[in-house]
Amino acid sequence: MIPSPADVFRALIPPNRREPVQASAAAFAPANIALVKYWGKRDERLNLPVTSSLSVSLGKLGSDVRLCGRQGRDVVTLNGKPLPDDSSFVRRVSSYLDFCRPAAGWGFEVTARNTIPTAAGFASSASGFAALVRALDGLFGWHLDGRALSILARLGSGSASRSIFEGLVEWHAGCAADGMDSYAEPLGVEWADLRMALIVLSRAEKGIGSRAAMQRTVETSPLYAAWPATVHRDMAEMKSALQERDFTRTGAVAERNALAMHATMLAASPPVLYWQPESVRVMQKVWALRAEGVPVYFTMDAGPNVKVLYLADTEPAVREGLADWEFVKPNA
Ligand code: DP6
Repeated sequence: MIPSPADVFRALIPPNRREPVQASAAAFAPANIALVKYWGKRDERLNLPVTSSLSVSLGKLGSDVRLCGRQGRDVVTLNGKPLPDDSSFVRRVSSYLDFCRPAAGWGFEVTARNTIPTAAGFASSASGFAALVRALDGLFGWHLDGRALSILARLGSGSASRSIFEGLVEWHAGCAADGMDSYAEPLGVEWADLRMALIVLSRAEKGIGSRAAMQRTVETSPLYAAWPATVHRDMAEMKSALQERDFTRTGAVAERNALAMHATMLAASPPVLYWQPESVRVMQKVWALRAEGVPVYFTMDAGPNVKVLYLADTEPAVREGLADWEFVKPNA
């Protein structure tokens, strides 16, 4: 039988830990940006990826989630606004919380606050689900380790598996049908001078979410066939570049991997194009800066915004070069 998310919860949560051990719990998780992307699932229900991926977490940019129990339906507040019950976000959170209700009729009050622009390609679902899992762990006193938290976060959103950890993080694709070998863990490489900044072009909600776009790409893009081998090669090269603190190779692999991912989407039917004219302007500016000798690279996810990768000592030149746009730096 194919395991369901409920089976995974049952396998990981201690049986005597189905009741809250405290009245409320709060947790934070950082957002993360992939340097080698996750794009495509081998199992939609468990969010099991086709390939491994590698990311950098964004320090204090992420999500705070506070949880407590209540009688009746779930009440979800995001950035100070109560969300309608029928919003897609509430439905997604509620169906996730179904796995942990101590009894029928038991609801949750979820108060979430993002310190990163929501739904603009800034991976707020990743930090949101990772923080939610950490808050659940506190509320119910599960005391799960990082691997188990990462597996549970993945059930909410694939990239949330990586937001359980700080710094450089690898999510192993795994091959087991129940996904118990598909979890993230710290890469074990510290690179204090590596910087990722967000170039904010639009805070608008994106047209098509990453989940649907990913599925459409897998199902219809003739270029998707080349993606697993591309990631395999990029992962190997990225890891060696990071271990050697080789910034030129790190940036080059990140940039080409992001562009390859977007190429698979462009070839989908109907096509998926997240770029806005401003996104292309930023990409071209990054290339121009490189041609002038400033070592800076970009990556992009399922949204119009661009993220730039550089080293601490070149920050003044990078900021100056990109002064036309809003520059958001983690831990600034
Ligand atoms: C482009 O993790 O949002 O940001 O698993 O369906 O929730 P679901 O998808 P999600 O996809 C993230 C895609 C990406 C690349 C990445 O973060 O690796």
